[in-house]
Amino acid sequence: MQIKIAPSILAADFSKMASAVKLIQASGGDMIHCDVMDGSFVEPITFGGQMVKDIRRLTKLPLDCHLMTEHPKTQIKFFAEAGADIITVHYEACNKISVNYLKETLQLIKSYGVKCGAVVNPDVPVENIFEVFPLCDMVLIMTVFPGYGGQKFVPETLEKIKKARAYAIKTGKPDLDIEVDGGVTEENAALIKQAGANVLVAGSAVFRSKDPAKTIAALRR
Ligand code: DX5
Ligand code: ZN
Repeated sequence: MQIKIAPSILAADFSKMASAVKLIQASGGDMIHCDVMDGSFVEPITFGGQMVKDIRRLTKLPLDCHLMTEHPKTQIKFFAEAGADIITVHYEACNKISVNYLKETLQLIKSYGVKCGAVVNPDVPVENIFEVFPLCDMVLIMTVFPGYGGQKFVPETLEKIKKARAYAIKTGKPDLDIEVDGGVTEENAALIKQAGANVLVAGSAVFRSKDPAKTIAALRR
C-alpha cells in the first residue's frame, strides 16, 4: 500500500503559516493535516475554515481537515467551501448527539464532493465505527488523546489499527486509507505500518526535525 505522510501544521509557528506550507511541500509531504480545535470538544482553539481557505491558495497538496469539534455537521459547509480535500469527524462528538449523526455528517461531506472519514479516540473501540466503513474514504485511529501536539504514542492503539485493517479487507475495502495521528516518530513508524496504517500524521516529528525532508522520507520508508 502507498504510505502517505501528513505533516500537521499544529506544530508550526502560526504567524508563519505560509512558510510552514512551503516547508511541507519542499520536504515531500503527501498532504497537509489541519487540526481544527473548538475549545469545547478539546480545550484549545486553533483555527477554522478561513485558515483552510487561505492555505488552499498556497498549495495543491491535499488538505486533510481533522475536525475536533462538537456538532461537526454545522462546520462542514465552511471547510468544504474552503477547499478541503478530506474532512474527518469524531465518533465521540457525533454519538452524543444521536445514533445517526455520524452517518449523516459523512453523507453531508460527500454531498460536497469531498472525501470523508470517521475518527476514534484511543479509548473508544474501533468496532464502534465499523458500520460506517462503507461510507468512509479514510478512517482515523487517534494514537494520542486529541488536543495537544507532542504527546506520547499510546501503544494499545496498535491492536485497533490491526482490527481496522482486517475489517477493511474482510469487507472488500483492502485499500481503505487508515490514518494514525499522534506521537508518530521515526522509531515507531515501522510498527504502525506493520499494524496496517498507511497514512501517518506527524506534527512534532517533522516541525522539530533538523532535516524535515529526511524525517518524512524515514517515516515513509
Ligand atoms: C492532536 C492532533 C494531532 C497532533 C499530532 O490533537 O490531532 O494531529 O498535531 O502532533 P504530534 O505528531 O506532535 O503528536
Ligand atoms: Zn490531527
